[in-house]
Amino acid sequence: MNIVHVVGTGTIGEPLIGLLADHREAFGIDEVTFHKRTPLVTERSKVNDLVRRGAVLCVDDDKRSTFEELGHSPKYETREAIERATVVIDCTPVGLQNKADFYDKALNVRGFMAQGSEFGFGKMYARGINDEALVRGEDRFLHIVSCNTHNIAVLIKTLAMDPDGTNHLTNGEFLCIRRANDISQDSGFVASPTVEKHKDPKFGTHHARDAHGLFATLGYDLNLFSSAVKINSQYMHAIHFSLTLDREITLEEVRDRLASNARVAVTYKRSANQVFSFGRDHGYYGRILSQTVVALETLAIRGGNEVVGFCFTPQDGNPLLSTIAAMLWYLDPDSVDDRMDVLRPYLFREV
Ligand SMILES: NC(=O)c1ccc[n+]([C@@H]2O[C@H](COP(=O)([O-])OP(=O)(O)OC[C@H]3O[C@@H](n4cnc5c(N)ncnc54)[C@H](OP(=O)(O)O)[C@@H]3O)[C@@H](O)[C@H]2O)c1
Repeated sequence: MNIVHVVGTGTIGEPLIGLLADHREAFGIDEVTFHKRTPLVTERSKVNDLVRRGAVLCVDDDKRSTFEELGHSPKYETREAIERATVVIDCTPVGLQNKADFYDKALNVRGFMAQGSEFGFGKMYARGINDEALVRGEDRFLHIVSCNTHNIAVLIKTLAMDPDGTNHLTNGEFLCIRRANDISQDSGFVASPTVEKHKDPKFGTHHARDAHGLFATLGYDLNLFSSAVKINSQYMHAIHFSLTLDREITLEEVRDRLASNARVAVTYKRSANQVFSFGRDHGYYGRILSQTVVALETLAIRGGNEVVGFCFTPQDGNPLLSTIAAMLWYLDPDSVDDRMDVLRPYLFREV
């Protein structure tokens, strides 16, 4: 019996639980369970809808009666839900703590995943970037890298690496222009552009550090640096990138390479609201599952070997896709590609 358990019902957890429940059959899952920490009347509708779609609610023992007062019928308790699962997907900002408290002791679970903020949880993973680094029976803990790290990684893989793995990147620089908060969130908005510290002396911000770590699982040691600024928008992140290669490249080759990767979308649109709006009308519950949306008309070649441009980051779409791929890999490594078919309509080539 394949049971997938999701911990957390926030910006990442909520769409993930719905996606898993809706595609249970296509993914070969028998049961989808999810843990919600806080009983809230404002979130009753969310829980009810996820349960209507077939997911099973699990709560802490000491919160059970409050959930019941709200009209919910929780089925499993926190630890029980984890221990009976085949795969556990942590979508909280406390994945490392949950690992120490619960996951390390749940020896029968085949695999655990945590999301972007949980550096050190396990081997870094992004679909299409380092699938060959995953080792069956060995990698029980995976860290699905953040949305902007996905974007940086797919640009490098597509534009600076050959299909045989030869790396041509000598320097990669990225300015992450971040939306202040998600449309589902009330807190964390900023009144004006707010710059972030370069906390990491080698990589700047965590985005380049994580992209470096992701490629390190394949034996690369890339020269990367990132900076970040939050802007007063809720729509989408954008990234300005500069990739310097050890060889000449033309704009035509850049466009051909972007067109050759099914996980890359291109666009003639130049505003985040236009791209976001396309996702709302054509994506999976509003989400574009492509790893990047490159603004074609911003591409430029500087000095013959430096590719410069802007792209948009499908912020919760790209980690969702990698999370599903890793979950399927735990269930059956040989059928991942076939089982992902159901999501291909949301991997756009043009936005
Ligand atoms: N937001 C994005 O676009 C995005 C993109 C890529 C990756 N991520 C990553 O996804 C992870 C979650 O981010 P998010 O944006 O989804 O967060 P979020 O919207 O704040 O949701 C957090 C969820 O975790 C639960 N939670 C919080 N603290 C908890 C605790 N101490 N114990 C158990 N559950 C707890 C909350 O439950 P209650 O509300 O019931 O208390 C809530 O359901 C982070 O690692 C983040 O880096 C986010």
